[in-house]
Amino acid sequence: MKIKFSNLYKEYLSIKKNIDRSIKEVIDNSAFIRGKYVTRFENNFKSKLRSKYCLTCNNGTDALILTMISLGLKNNDEVITTAHSWISSSSSITKAGGKVVFCDVKKNSFNIDPKDIEKKITRKTVGIVLVHLYGEPADIINIKKLAKKNNLWIVEDCAQSHFVKYNKQFLGTHGEAGSFSFYPSKILGGFGDSGAIVTNNKKLYIKALKLAQHGGLRKHIHEFEGFNSRMDGLQAAVLNEKLKILNKLKKNRKVIAKRYHYNLKNIKNIQLPNVQKIDHGYYLYVIKAENRNKLKKYLNKNNIETQIHYPNLLPFLNSYRYLNYKKKDFPNALSNQSKILSLPMYPQLKFKEIDYISKKIIAFYSK
Ligand SMILES: Cc1ncc(COP(=O)(O)O)c(C=O)c1O
Repeated sequence: MKIKFSNLYKEYLSIKKNIDRSIKEVIDNSAFIRGKYVTRFENNFKSKLRSKYCLTCNNGTDALILTMISLGLKNNDEVITTAHSWISSSSSITKAGGKVVFCDVKKNSFNIDPKDIEKKITRKTVGIVLVHLYGEPADIINIKKLAKKNNLWIVEDCAQSHFVKYNKQFLGTHGEAGSFSFYPSKILGGFGDSGAIVTNNKKLYIKALKLAQHGGLRKHIHEFEGFNSRMDGLQAAVLNEKLKILNKLKKNRKVIAKRYHYNLKNIKNIQLPNVQKIDHGYYLYVIKAENRNKLKKYLNKNNIETQIHYPNLLPFLNSYRYLNYKKKDFPNALSNQSKILSLPMYPQLKFKEIDYISKKIIAFYSK
């Protein structure tokens, strides 16, 4: 048996007819950039998330940058984010003109620690980029309290947490704005790059819309220099089709996580993500494993692909060396670093495949 980390082709095959028809429609209408299919997607996306505005753009990184520029981020304004994420969560702060301030994650969690946020707030802090890593909601209640007390905005980076709820409300709608990536392997993914911002703040939406289309709302009217950041019609067509089956895709991810949990819960050498307490999108199924590197090699030898999200904490990448962080600044995130391993996770993964992976993990620790 050979098990890939993810398998996008299987997802395509499951709705091939509809996707092919939608793509043909875009081509027949030459609706390649923005246009009616993109507007349809924006309307579908915002109404499903129960948000007032949705602006699509080139990718999830742009969604973050456009949001933060629209919030008025200025030089030396400090924005707090987690040490453990994909670089867009922090690079977007710098690209929008701010200074990144990194925080540790909570013990026994992969998400930012509110207690560390509180310590890092200064007179210069203006906001928090809150990442819901792997599909698990961060501690929104406590972080919202801190934000309110200190007059900070919250932008939720939901690149890994589409349609996950916290307190009966979708992630992306708890703060000033939510940003999404539709990179192909995401919970909701297209056939290329694209992203979106959702917000209830009209001023922010209009500013981001102008920024995304060269600084204006109408062609040839440029109020300021902006960017070119637009979703294309083909992505919108694919995403509109995938939205129709999203509940099923999400349910499958939960069922897979439960199966992993059932199979692996008694192995003392690994720690599993929680499956019950709160909603979880299971974009990734990440375990903490003793002898992680050896286990990864062993699984690879047995034709099981795994990945590490992410091999380095953001503050220790060359790009942030200038910030001079020390290892002692991130004890929890560092302790996760050598243990995290992402097991295969995609909605079409079969029970017999999960059982095979589990059997191999059990065999590794029984040696
Ligand atoms: C947490 C997080 N934020 C932002 C992004 C950026 O999204 P994109 O690749 O669409 O620019 C990603 C993409 O992987 C991500 O995982």
